[in-house]
Amino acid sequence: MRLKLKGGMLMAQTTFIVRRAKDSDIYEVMNINLETLPENYWYGFYKHLLDNWGEAFLVAEVEGKLVGYSMSRVEEQGDPALLGLVSEIGVEESIFKRVITTLKNIKNLRPVGHLVSIAVRAPYRRMGIGSKLLEETIRVLREVYNVDSIYLEVRVSNEPAIRLYEKFGFKKARIIKGYYSDGEDAYIMVKRLK
Ligand SMILES: CC(C)(COP(=O)(O)OP(=O)(O)OC[C@H]1O[C@@H](n2cnc3c(N)ncnc32)[C@H](O)[C@@H]1OP(=O)(O)O)[C@@H](O)C(=O)NCCC(=O)NCCS
Repeated sequence: MRLKLKGGMLMAQTTFIVRRAKDSDIYEVMNINLETLPENYWYGFYKHLLDNWGEAFLVAEVEGKLVGYSMSRVEEQGDPALLGLVSEIGVEESIFKRVITTLKNIKNLRPVGHLVSIAVRAPYRRMGIGSKLLEETIRVLREVYNVDSIYLEVRVSNEPAIRLYEKFGFKKARIIKGYYSDGEDAYIMVKRLK
């Protein structure tokens, strides 16, 4: 533990590292997810993300203990502004996919990064860990996966996360009504990289 000056006050600063996740981290990542978010996933979902977009699956570690994670995937939809059309106007997914394919043929659409989930265990928040996870996620999606933009969904009430995303240049692009299983709306936030 070190001390740093923030807003004129001396704050405890925890030393942490951010690294690429391994298969053996998945169960602990699942525990963090269960502790911190109502959106939970089965083991195979994590494994799929790790197997396919492993460079963008990151964990934060303090003294050998996992305290946070960030996981993403790369999608082919092209313009993130199109996302959410399915739920919003009730278009069947197959039709939506055909529209996207047609658009791709018209204009060479680029892949987009999708930040699926990011979380930090409560006692380790406000120490810069979420920022480091997000900064590294953006770097990897840009440099390794060559995406033009990154999007994510966030509960409209999740002020800490929205502030974090805004700090890194994400902008609220649209609202999806009733996106979450409890009926809460989501903002789609987008960061354009190119
Ligand atoms: C969102 C979350 C990942 C942020 O992690 P963190 O390690 O606390 O983030 P940081 O310490 O790097 O904070 C970065 C910025 O986020 C914003 N922020 C973080 N927590 C905040 C809070 N409680 N209130 C207001 N702003 C907050 C601030 O702008 C902060 O910058 P600052 O400390 O210079 O003011 C964390 O709060 C969390 O895990 N929440 C639960 C899971 C979740 O909601 N995930 C997002 C799902 S979309």
